[in-house]
Amino acid sequence: MSIRIAPSILSADFAALGNAVAAVERGGADLIHVDVMDGHFVPNITIGVPVVRSLKRIATVPLDVHLMITDPDRYIEAFAEAGASMISVHVEVLPHLHRTIQAIKALKAKAGVVLNPSTPVVALEQIAGDVDFVLVMSVNPGFGGQSFIPRSELKVREVRALLDRAGNTAAPIEIDGGIDQKTVARVVSAGAQILVAGNAIFGTADAERATRDLKAAANAAAPTTAARA
Ligand code: DX5
Ligand code: ZN
Repeated sequence: MSIRIAPSILSADFAALGNAVAAVERGGADLIHVDVMDGHFVPNITIGVPVVRSLKRIATVPLDVHLMITDPDRYIEAFAEAGASMISVHVEVLPHLHRTIQAIKALKAKAGVVLNPSTPVVALEQIAGDVDFVLVMSVNPGFGGQSFIPRSELKVREVRALLDRAGNTAAPIEIDGGIDQKTVARVVSAGAQILVAGNAIFGTADAERATRDLKAAANAAAPTTAARA
């Protein structure tokens, strides 16, 4: 099973984003995770379409755009055109989630759905066969540097079981929040395949090295294909 590392630029120096992206790419980053916050869905405001467009010019790996906004339907097209390869939306704000997923796919981006820590896995029951990936929040969204919520490990297992039951065995689970050298092994063992990390990478003096070290720890914990089968 292949593990992907998605450094979150939320914890990077916004005055030097190009350098931040280059450093994590040298360290083996597979994606760049971009946290878009609107000050409504979450109590913080970050960045939007123009920054994604600029990142697209310099990044050599795909951009993974996490929309923490109350009305994602209004902005999906703009983010896809700006260069988002993966777009994830929160189930908590979308009454017509099936339509939104189809709209993201029609824009040729990978469509992901996100569950807040308090949102039950059953919220995905009817959509599990349609998604390209599921993002499990292991902190309450809004800020970097928070502590991993332990129950998220079980939630990853439950989402994996649901996706497999729906026949969507190819859809990976992404996990976001509090992922570091201490928590990485248990989430990977539970079935997470895309690991977002902000503080654990950009909160260090050497983002390149932190990316490489986190990826090595993740790969060491990855179940073999035979073990998962
Ligand atoms: C939180 C964001 C995360 C955040 C993770 O709302 O969605 O992507 O950057 O940061 P860490 O890894 O520091 O918990
Ligand atoms: Zn995120």
